[in-house]
Amino acid sequence: MVRLGVNVDHVATVRQARGVPEPDPLEAALLAQRAGADSIIVHLREDRRHIQDRDVRLLRKKVKRLNLEMAVTEEILKIACRIKPDQATLVPEKRQELTTEGGLDVTGNLRKISQAVKRLKKKDIMVSLFIDPDLKQVKTSTKTGAQMVELHTGCYAEAKSKKKKGKELTRISRAAKEARELGLAVSAGHGLTYRNVPRIVKIPEIEELNIGHNIIARAVMVGMKQAVKEMLNLIKRRR
Ligand code: PXP
Repeated sequence: MVRLGVNVDHVATVRQARGVPEPDPLEAALLAQRAGADSIIVHLREDRRHIQDRDVRLLRKKVKRLNLEMAVTEEILKIACRIKPDQATLVPEKRQELTTEGGLDVTGNLRKISQAVKRLKKKDIMVSLFIDPDLKQVKTSTKTGAQMVELHTGCYAEAKSKKKKGKELTRISRAAKEARELGLAVSAGHGLTYRNVPRIVKIPEIEELNIGHNIIARAVMVGMKQAVKEMLNLIKRRR
């Protein structure tokens, strides 16, 4: 069975837009967990645009399995080692990006990444590296000591033509196979939706999918009717 990790960053995005306590990513995480999510993912970005330090501390206490997405910086590494999530997923981070763009360049940053992996593993944190489905990056990932790679599905998700989609799927499939053969656990994520996920699920080596935006987007829509009904009930009762 493929496991599902639900990323609740964008619940915090809505909250931060107003600077009020609601919606609460912890509440969303607990609902996701109750619905069957195997893990909860948050990305504590350096600019704290959505998830805040307090969110991570509370989530750590309340959710069954916490996967912290994080950049390889001293500040965030210290926080991760203190909070000790079940898993840390190392990602590249650029200040201006809307979301994580591209995978980690493990080959170009082998020393830095290996040192980060060592520090996290010392605290019993499982480490995953978010990489492009590229055989060279997969091979180098094994040298870092990380136990898992998360294959970036963004190019597959964004491919417009059938041909390009097929090509991207093959890249992911090959990278997954290589990673598994080299002893790494394999997950995948980024840009996955209710429409494009079925073909990814068919790749046998992928044991976990990490999905955020599209689930949060769907949650807004499936919850809208209920939310409006509840408000109407209150308004109507007052007259
Ligand atoms: N995996 C990683 C490493 C990510 O950075 C993100 C985005 O935060 C996701 C998965 C989820 O991507 P999406 O929000 O597009 O589902």
